Amino acid sequence: MKVALIGYGVMGKQIEAVCKERGHVVSAIITKESSDEMASKLKHADVAVEFTEPDAAADNIRACFNAGVPVVCGTTGWLHHYEAIRQDCLSTGGGLLYASNFSIGVNLFFRLNKQLAALISRYPGYKAELEEIHHTRKKDAPSGTAITLAEGLIEEHPGYSSWVLGRTSAEGQLPVTASRVGDVPGTHSISWKSENDSITITHEAFNRKGFALGAVIAAEFMKGKRGVYSMTDLFNSDSDYGN
Ligand SMILES: NC(=O)c1ccc[n+]([C@@H]2O[C@H](COP(=O)([O-])OP(=O)(O)OC[C@H]3O[C@@H](n4cnc5c(N)ncnc54)[C@H](OP(=O)(O)O)[C@@H]3O)[C@@H](O)[C@H]2O)c1
Repeated sequence: MKVALIGYGVMGKQIEAVCKERGHVVSAIITKESSDEMASKLKHADVAVEFTEPDAAADNIRACFNAGVPVVCGTTGWLHHYEAIRQDCLSTGGGLLYASNFSIGVNLFFRLNKQLAALISRYPGYKAELEEIHHTRKKDAPSGTAITLAEGLIEEHPGYSSWVLGRTSAEGQLPVTASRVGDVPGTHSISWKSENDSITITHEAFNRKGFALGAVIAAEFMKGKRGVYSMTDLFNSDSDYGN
């Protein structure tokens, strides 16, 4: 499979290494280029993998739709454009799979979070807090992963209807705190506290390889596909991610 990498930072380089390990060819590395240069680099790719920054993601994804190349996007912090991008994908016949986190462990953690929220919703004495820690280069806060966790919890627990960045004791609001420390790849914790005890679940990434591997498996899945896909489709597929 020929893969175009859009963004060649920490994640782009990890994804390049995993592509090689899995026998794929990186046919193009796209950094900040004109739209013509980008179109010509995308032309020969089977699939593009986009890991850049919040302000760049939407334009890069559209460039892939226009070039007829399905795209896997892992950039976070651009979801206010998601609905418009989804419509563009459908109207141009493009292919998109976005995930706030591609690691298998985090996707299992997403499920555990929802199950715990559903279980605990019968006991109103327990209140939730979400905390995330990332490296100091990270541009968005809270992380895309924290937002997915918050949305999953809210979906399963009728006592919560929204999340806020920072401390809050307002009824129905889930407080989400974000810290930026050193080179931390990503740590997420959800704590449920009552007057008497607490339950905390934590996912801690030790490195970035799990994100890169998941993104490359997603790229293998997206080859030749049109339409909008999610990690649920990947889990339900017969890819190396499937179960
Ligand atoms: N979904 C997941 O599993 C997952 C996992 C880890 C990270 N992420 C997300 O992935 C993104 C990238 O993370 P990272 O750690 O690789 O960041 P990074 O090391 O800062 O790399 C981002 C790269 O994108 C480049 N870039 C910026 N604008 C661009 C554009 N318009 N076109 C092409 N390249 C452009 C930057 O170039 P310059 O250096 O020249 O500015 C930089 O090399 C972040 O949003 C992060 O939150 C997602």
